[in-house]
Amino acid sequence: MESRIIILLILATHLALGACSSAQKNSDFLECLTIQFQSSNSAPDGVIYTPRNASYASLLLAFNQRLAPTPSERPELIITPFHESEIQAAVYCSRKLGMQIRVRSGGHDYEGLSYNSENPFVIVDMRNIRSISIDNDEKSAWVQVGATLGQLYHTLARKSKTLAFTAGVCPPVGVGGHFSGGGYGMMSRKHALASDNIIDAKLINANGQVLDRKSMGEDLFWVIRGGGGTSFGIVLAFKLKLVIVPEIVTVFNVSRTLEQNATQLVHKWQYIADKVDENLLLRLFLRSVRSPIHGNRTIQASFTTLFLGRVHNLLPIMQDSFPELGLVEQDCIEMSWIESTLFFAGLRNESLDVLLIRTPQTGIYFKGKSDYVRQPIPIQGLRGIWRFLNQEDENRAELQFSPYGGVLNTFSESETPFPHRSGNIFMIHYGIVWTRGGSAESERHINWIRRLYSYMGRYVSRSPRAAYFNYRDLDLGRNAGRNTTYEQASVWGFRYFKNNFNRLVRVKSMVDPSNFFRNEQSIPPVSSS
Ligand SMILES: Cc1cc2nc3c(=O)[nH]c(=O)nc-3n(C[C@H](O)[C@H](O)[C@H](O)COP(=O)(O)OP(=O)(O)OC[C@H]3O[C@@H](n4cnc5c(N)ncnc54)[C@H](O)[C@@H]3O)c2cc1C
Ligand SMILES: *[C@@H]1O[C@H](CO)[C@@H](O)[C@H](O)[C@H]1NC(C)=O
Ligand SMILES: *[C@@H]1O[C@H](CO)[C@@H](O)[C@H](O)[C@H]1NC(C)=O
Ligand SMILES: *[C@@H]1O[C@H](CO)[C@@H](O)[C@H](O)[C@H]1NC(C)=O
Ligand SMILES: *[C@@H]1O[C@H](CO)[C@@H](O)[C@H](O)[C@H]1NC(C)=O
Ligand SMILES: *[C@@H]1O[C@H](CO)[C@@H](O)[C@H](O)[C@H]1NC(C)=O
Ligand SMILES: *[C@@H]1O[C@H](CO)[C@@H](O)[C@H](O)[C@H]1NC(C)=O
Repeated sequence: MESRIIILLILATHLALGACSSAQKNSDFLECLTIQFQSSNSAPDGVIYTPRNASYASLLLAFNQRLAPTPSERPELIITPFHESEIQAAVYCSRKLGMQIRVRSGGHDYEGLSYNSENPFVIVDMRNIRSISIDNDEKSAWVQVGATLGQLYHTLARKSKTLAFTAGVCPPVGVGGHFSGGGYGMMSRKHALASDNIIDAKLINANGQVLDRKSMGEDLFWVIRGGGGTSFGIVLAFKLKLVIVPEIVTVFNVSRTLEQNATQLVHKWQYIADKVDENLLLRLFLRSVRSPIHGNRTIQASFTTLFLGRVHNLLPIMQDSFPELGLVEQDCIEMSWIESTLFFAGLRNESLDVLLIRTPQTGIYFKGKSDYVRQPIPIQGLRGIWRFLNQEDENRAELQFSPYGGVLNTFSESETPFPHRSGNIFMIHYGIVWTRGGSAESERHINWIRRLYSYMGRYVSRSPRAAYFNYRDLDLGRNAGRNTTYEQASVWGFRYFKNNFNRLVRVKSMVDPSNFFRNEQSIPPVSSS
């Protein structure tokens, strides 16, 4: 212990000496951490990174270049704790010194809020807190937040052929952000969201106390199942109710262009996607591509599907509900559930170990938005979407239509903070990627997606125009710092949470009245109730 403390003190001094003006807080923070680590007997080696550490830059990397912090926006420190006492120390010191904390689990936040801030800040990166323990008999698992979805799926598959979990399709997404904000995936019509299957949690609150479901109480336990962890504390782990899947499932990915009736098929899809057997989830991807037949641009609709059953059971269901698609047995592939996670991640035929890769794909600039659809979009409306897609280069823009219904309808709007239940046919995800920075280039693509969003207003949910919290979008509104009012935050708050926003504000006011945990879209406390 003794020698580690000395090293840290030297590090702190060293940094203080090399300091320019803004670094005083930074060195105070380091010093504070050192003392805290010392008193809690923890081992801080490999936990604290400053911009001078060789691996700082790669640690900071995130998948979305649009939000990569510039040198002047970079965090003073990145802390990668191994133990909860180190997180408690970070909470204590940032409170004491007025330094903001940004918590990062998988780093996939759409607006980079886990690694970006306008104010001096430190990142608490949870990547080393990622163990998973599965209880086969109870069909449950404790998962620490730094685990990725891929790691969870991989661990489950090694334990059992039929234990699985319902969450998103992108393997490097982190448990911490994804589960606390919802978590929609290919089994959500059968097993709902990740957040709907959380049965216990461990969290560090603004006072640095470690709480579980019992000690945090049902209000706080409610908010972190869809309301996001970020406004309320630092989640350490979730206990999950696992789901049972058949040993063999069936997948297909059938694509049709406009010449193959894509418009009529997409139109018809809206009438069946939320109503079919809940074992069946037909997700729809729409892109503008160059036609292999005539070389001109066309729209390609891909029906990317998971069926929790065998192909001979799937075919009659498709024939009955969606014969126009013309699905045949040759389009379908039977496989294990874990292979299906590779399939949907575009990693078919790769070894299962690719699920463990957590380094982000870099060099991509990205902007996303979301909508909820409660009435089918008419043919005319779809044609308008096609015109928008054709304005961008091929394969650059993509719309995803994710069907709801099934078990999602059995939850009341207030059962969890995630309110998008009965009455929604599907969710739209709008996404645009580009590969060159530069403000003119970025502005062009961001304007494009905003114009599309504006066009879509007439076809989607209204009052509020709802949005999915995990597809965070700062266009919907942003807070004004520590003193953000209820009125300011309600501009975006009702869109993500509908009336649950009010309960989120009440709980926030109880558990974090000083607004310690905050970002550009965090729930504000109200000073008097
Ligand atoms: C490529 C890609 C694919 C995606 N696919 C899907 C999908 O299929 N389905 C779906 O529903 N969503 C999907 N998403 C959205 C995803 O669910 C969210 O971006 C989610 O918030 C990411 O979690 P994370 O831990 O990786 O992100 P982070 O950036 O680490 O965190 C996101 C937010 O949560 C906070 N946070 C993180 N960890 C904690 C913690 N331990 N305690 C408290 N607060 C915390 C952060 O501060 C930040 O505000 C996808 C996103 C991307 C980029
Ligand atoms: C960062 O650099 C300092 C000074 O060289 C070193 O003491 C420390 O261990 C490094 N941190 C990590 C996490 O490697
Ligand atoms: C397209 O749909 C029409 C009817 O809606 C049908 O007559 C026609 O055969 C379909 N074409 C293809 C290529 O499936
Ligand atoms: C392809 O585009 C060209 C130029 O716009 C047009 O003249 C031609 O008719 C198109 N071909 C088809 C098959 O649509
Ligand atoms: C489905 O097919 C389309 C068109 O070929 C392709 O672009 C897409 O990546 C495929 N999706 C999956 C999950 O394989
Ligand atoms: C995966 O393997 C199958 C069977 O060998 C093959 O038919 C298929 O083309 C491969 N798919 C990809 C995406 O490589
Ligand atoms: C927020 O409010 C507090 C107390 O009213 C005040 O002292 C502080 O200056 C305000 N901060 C900002 C950033 O407005």
